[in-house]
Amino acid sequence: MNKILFVAFTLLISSFVVNADGKATYTALGCAACHGATGKATIPIYPNLNGQNAAYTVKQLKDFQSGARKDPTMSAMANLTAGKEQAIADFLAAQK
Ligand code: HEC
Repeated sequence: MNKILFVAFTLLISSFVVNADGKATYTALGCAACHGATGKATIPIYPNLNGQNAAYTVKQLKDFQSGARKDPTMSAMANLTAGKEQAIADFLAAQK
């Protein structure tokens, strides 16, 4: 029983840490300038990212990096997220 609680607790804490890391990176890279602080864009030409499936967000960032998806702004921005795609995507997926 204690072991199960310990594992559950560890998973819960690590999910907060990952989210905090994703949020910090998202904010530090300036993503919020276009996509809003919680992924809800205030300027209509930018897509909302809040509540998006994390796997989809990770794929888009990797596609921008590889050139499979092209956009003058996002191709450059996505390169900055290398290694942090999942953390950013998890943060965005958890936003309302
Ligand atoms: C200068 C404005 C700007 C900034 C800064 C910016 N983006 Fe974007 N983002 C866009 C635009 C415009 C699109 C739509 C691109 C297109 O039409 O393909 C987009 C698309 C996306 C998408 C795909 C959304 C979808 O529904 O397919 C993701 C994910 C994304 N941005 C994440 C980020 C992240 C993470 C950052 C920070 C590293 C960031 N963006 C910074 C303007 C911006």
